[in-house]
Amino acid sequence: MSEEIIRVMIVDDVADTCDQLEKLLFFEKDIEVVAKAHNGREAVDAAKKLKPDVILMDINMPEMDGIAATEAITADDPSIQVIIMSVQGETDYLRRAMLAGAREFLIKPVGADDLYKSIRHVHKLGATRPRPVAGRVDSGGDGAAPSGDQPKGQLLAVFSPKGGAGTSAVAANLAIALRQLTGRKVALVDGNLTLGDLNVILNLVSSTTVVDLARRVSEIDRDLLNDVLVTHGSQIKVLLAPPNPQDGETVSPEQLQAILEAMRREFDYVVVDTFSSFTQDRALSVLDVADRIILLMTLEMTCIKNIKLFLEVADLLAYSREKIFLVLNKADNRMGMRVDKVESTIRHKVALQIGNAGQDMALSINQGVPLVIGKRDHPVSRDIFLLARELSGVVTAAALPEVHHPGEDKPTPKARDKPQRGFFGRLF
Ligand SMILES: Nc1ncnc2c1ncn2[C@@H]1O[C@H](COP(=O)(O)OP(=O)(O)OP(=O)(O)O)[C@@H](O)[C@H]1O
Ligand SMILES: [Mg+2]
Repeated sequence: MSEEIIRVMIVDDVADTCDQLEKLLFFEKDIEVVAKAHNGREAVDAAKKLKPDVILMDINMPEMDGIAATEAITADDPSIQVIIMSVQGETDYLRRAMLAGAREFLIKPVGADDLYKSIRHVHKLGATRPRPVAGRVDSGGDGAAPSGDQPKGQLLAVFSPKGGAGTSAVAANLAIALRQLTGRKVALVDGNLTLGDLNVILNLVSSTTVVDLARRVSEIDRDLLNDVLVTHGSQIKVLLAPPNPQDGETVSPEQLQAILEAMRREFDYVVVDTFSSFTQDRALSVLDVADRIILLMTLEMTCIKNIKLFLEVADLLAYSREKIFLVLNKADNRMGMRVDKVESTIRHKVALQIGNAGQDMALSINQGVPLVIGKRDHPVSRDIFLLARELSGVVTAAALPEVHHPGEDKPTPKARDKPQRGFFGRLF
């Protein structure tokens, strides 16, 4: 079988840097340098003509910088993978580059091994990334996507095993960021059925809630969803929890799962705010069907302890490691704890950090204007956009655990052979 060649373009205004990188790549059998460009504009033109697989892109260049070029190139052809090269200390550029569509960063001077590894890695990501689902979504945000054999939307559960970690705030902001970044259909579900907060966070009022769907689970279709979900100004659709906790209690785990399955047929992303417990069927039912669990941790011992416990339970429940996307929320280096130490204690890597917005987050909640709207340039808003970018760009069909499609047999990993009720019933 012949080896696939990765076609690479190098973009840097310093000719010497271009030449050095080319030399480094010369002896790699699976990598071929197909072009070199010396500013962003040349890069955009060459990318259109040559369609390289991977572009090594400098940031600071005359005429058009690397970030603007990355944005133009990835908007034109999202299958082209861009690796940004930057000197140390340009972390703000790195954030912006990621938002512009870059897949990876290399700090200059670039080492040979890092270079080879990054090129192969991003190329692999590109190869497994699902093709854009053109036509599936109208960017208007009303109505729903066509049904039939279209791919199903991503179900993203924002969860923390410790209350107050920021699940509701992150879920609301993430849903809006996903909508703004992708222009696709995004729904947000208040899975905290008894004490939902999303109506306050988003300043929404609705006489219809999840209870109205639970009563008519077998009839859920686009029209019913349009009737029950409320539209937020950001064009996301929100399924609220009932104002009365007793009403929330009436929704069964099975009904909640059926609602989520129906919603993922109609939306590209369904973000679920969850209840901070994994010892209840209702909470587990959401985590079970989720494609990804955005697991929120804060740097407090009580939260870290629960995260460790949850990760052990997740193993027992046969959740794959890729399913769990660990996010450090309210990240602050004044907490007296090192992230790498925490990572080795819990034996899981933090995939992304969301900074501590301090009063700004509380203020945004009190005003009912999510931070990503009210303070779009706030560092924490940017962190949330990065999260949205990671989840919308990196989640691949190949990387995900089995998804249950209605009409197919449900996957039966070990821990689910005999569905049993209750936390301990599930485990033992
Ligand atoms: N990144 C952040 N920076 C600063 N404050 C934050 C951040 N994320 C959340 N908060 C604050 O943390 C508090 C709890 O947030 P939130 O209600 O979203 O948490 P939760 O996990 O949903 O809580 P609950 O368990 O009550 O549902 C709020 O005061 C919110 O303003
Ligand atoms: Mg909450």
